[in-house]
Amino acid sequence: MAREEVPDLAAAKETIRLLDAQIKTLTRGEKSRQREVVVFERKLREFAVDLEFALELERRRSAELEQAYYDMVLRLTRASVYKDNETGAHIQRVSYYARIIARHMGWSEADQELIFRAAPMHDVGKIAIPDALIRKRGSLDGEDRKIMESHTLRGAQLLEGSNSRLLEMARDIAVTHHEHWDGSGYPRRLQGNQIPIVGRIVMLGDNYDALRSQRSYKKSFPHEKACRIILEGDARTRPEHFDPQLLEIFRVVHLEFKEVFERFEHEDPAIL
Ligand SMILES: [Fe+2]
Ligand SMILES: [Fe+2]
Repeated sequence: MAREEVPDLAAAKETIRLLDAQIKTLTRGEKSRQREVVVFERKLREFAVDLEFALELERRRSAELEQAYYDMVLRLTRASVYKDNETGAHIQRVSYYARIIARHMGWSEADQELIFRAAPMHDVGKIAIPDALIRKRGSLDGEDRKIMESHTLRGAQLLEGSNSRLLEMARDIAVTHHEHWDGSGYPRRLQGNQIPIVGRIVMLGDNYDALRSQRSYKKSFPHEKACRIILEGDARTRPEHFDPQLLEIFRVVHLEFKEVFERFEHEDPAIL
């Protein structure tokens, strides 16, 4: 069925309402019009079947569209993995951490799945950062740091302009996953609830994973040390950087994070 043939939902509901009202009028004390009632009821049933069919087509069409977006996005993510020092496994683990938190926040299955799919794109803007900078060892400063930090805005530019919920969420994550709850993050120094919840969630998972992983400027830390740094702070990381509500959840679910890190130490080819 072509798109134009799908009945408008609001109009369909109105038709059902009118038919229903007519049936009620007919049944009110007018025995002689029983036959007409039967005809109306049949029409109503036929209409309901047509409507269900049209809605099913509509559902399938939007599921296919979302899948197409997801396929495209996976390719973008792959491109960023080729480019970045970050491994594909890191990107996948961030998805799992995000889903653990979303589940503990009571999100619907569909929204948990959405953040699981959107989280791997957090660093997709690194595609736009010069290789020399990405491969530079040690911490960056001055102009280099500014360029590197722009991966957040570049990511948002890559992902915006679509009304797919997946891409909208991915854009929010890309641009806010380095913002800090206390306003000390980048690129916009947003504070507290100004930072979308998806950005706050991915930021926590990204930080845990960075602490567990080896970086050019640090060794990998065991789970207990990573937890201590997140909850009590060190020279780089402060507990004030994180949404306090998410830190409370982290206290409850940290062992699930540990399990994810150990289970997915290497890339899961089913995802990337
Ligand atoms: Fe990043
Ligand atoms: Fe990351």
